[in-house]
Amino acid sequence: MKTYRALATVGVLIGTVVSQSSTVSTDVISGDYSGPLRPQVHFSPPQFFMNDPNGCFLDANGTWHLYYQYNPLGIVAGNQHWGHTTSKDLYHWTNQPIAIFPPDNTSQVFSGSAVVDANNTSGFFPNQTNGVVAMYTLNTPTKQIQGLSYSRDGGYTFTAYEGNPVIDSTSTQFRDPKVIWYEDHWVMVIAFSQDFAIGIYTSPDLKTWTHASNFSHHGLLGLQYECPNLVEIPVNGTDETMYLLTISINPGAPLGGSITEYFPGYFNGTHFTPVDNAARIADFAKDNYAGQFFYGVPSGEAVSIAWASNWQYTQVAPTASEGWRSAMSLPCRNFLTNVTRLGWDLVSEPYNLSPILGPQLASHDALLNTSLAVDYSNVSSNAIYFEANVTGLLHISSIPTTSFLNFTFSSPTSGESLSGGYQFGADNPFFLDRGKTNGFDNPYFTDKFSVSQILDPSGTWSISGLIDRSIFEVFLDRATFSGTTTFFPAEPLSHFTIATGDVPQGAAVKAVVYAVESVWA
Ligand code: FRU
Repeated sequence: MKTYRALATVGVLIGTVVSQSSTVSTDVISGDYSGPLRPQVHFSPPQFFMNDPNGCFLDANGTWHLYYQYNPLGIVAGNQHWGHTTSKDLYHWTNQPIAIFPPDNTSQVFSGSAVVDANNTSGFFPNQTNGVVAMYTLNTPTKQIQGLSYSRDGGYTFTAYEGNPVIDSTSTQFRDPKVIWYEDHWVMVIAFSQDFAIGIYTSPDLKTWTHASNFSHHGLLGLQYECPNLVEIPVNGTDETMYLLTISINPGAPLGGSITEYFPGYFNGTHFTPVDNAARIADFAKDNYAGQFFYGVPSGEAVSIAWASNWQYTQVAPTASEGWRSAMSLPCRNFLTNVTRLGWDLVSEPYNLSPILGPQLASHDALLNTSLAVDYSNVSSNAIYFEANVTGLLHISSIPTTSFLNFTFSSPTSGESLSGGYQFGADNPFFLDRGKTNGFDNPYFTDKFSVSQILDPSGTWSISGLIDRSIFEVFLDRATFSGTTTFFPAEPLSHFTIATGDVPQGAAVKAVVYAVESVWA
């Protein structure tokens, strides 16, 4: 028996006014995941428009909960609810009914986070340890205020707290609370978006919040700060942890639109201190925004997921023809590492891929100055994963600037391609080119990206990449750099080639290619 909630809202977002009046299902919304642009291992909503990940947490039964900014009524942003999906492995998702609805027909439930209140600090959960509190921004016509809802069934259905808002304001630019537990109290980071400040608040019970400090005017400003995260994060190769503050900026990122910057540093329960004055960017392409860290992961781990799109063009992306817009990035395991010359660097590597890896399609153990071609038109997911390693490139001065490793995904019928590669002897060693695909033409849909790297002292270059119909993610040098890019071919890309050339003798190159199995099949 279907039940519906009446809703008539006006959503105002980034200059776009969306006006809709309809009803929203309280049942699971069905989806057709078969379209040629529809990712097969990246999460996308069953229908309509999705943006930021919200409320990410891992429950005590090992179920990952992902909520997301969701317009259940339209294919552009507006009418924000919290959609919900759950998974045991971060790849195979089960769509759940919408979890959080706006309290009235003039507000929207904007981004926020969720925690498990195992010790019942809030008083909402007298007889249970799996109570969930979601904290979000209510976007109202006159101000953005912070509210919470609690769930007594482990995160599936929520009740709005009658004491909302828990933080009132007079500002229309105050949003995206992210809550963590620190030793003996709750901590929230939240954006004073157009003041370029991240507020840090503390609370004993999730209901009463005290402003403790501001982290302001750090890094790139863009035109707004959004979706901050503060997380304890492991340091590679040690038992140590540090803290990481991420800030998403939009509009106004260096490449246009949306990007996430981050600050490694230290946190004492009230104040965040970055290690240095540098602004570091999480992803070198254009489709990785508003990433959120999961609450409740085992100590010593950090796991995140991001929205794989960009506000510059997300609302006109051609996937509307398939009834959906936007996907999430691959889930990532994160840690900080110290890179030669650069210093602290955020590593984002794909979370354990084994649940989605299919049969090996090809491999080559001696790919020095030769190529490997794979026709994957028979792979029903139309998604593949590859890895390549180059070792023994010890002295930069002995590597000709013409030395390369290139890869191309192409369609022999339409002539379209997505390509990338290293130029080993040069300053700008890695590029990505999505410009030779014909399914989308937009002035902000930048064609090419590159990232500068220096040769690792071990003389090793490594790359892995996963292509998933209309999303490609690439991870360089054990994921010290990563790039997330959407691309929209008119015909499915189905042939993969990887090649090296002018690589000095003495180096060794290996590559392996796997099919990826659809999680929706
Ligand atoms: C970031 C953002 C948030 C806001 C949400 C609204 O993409 O603009 O600041 O809460 O999207 O959907």
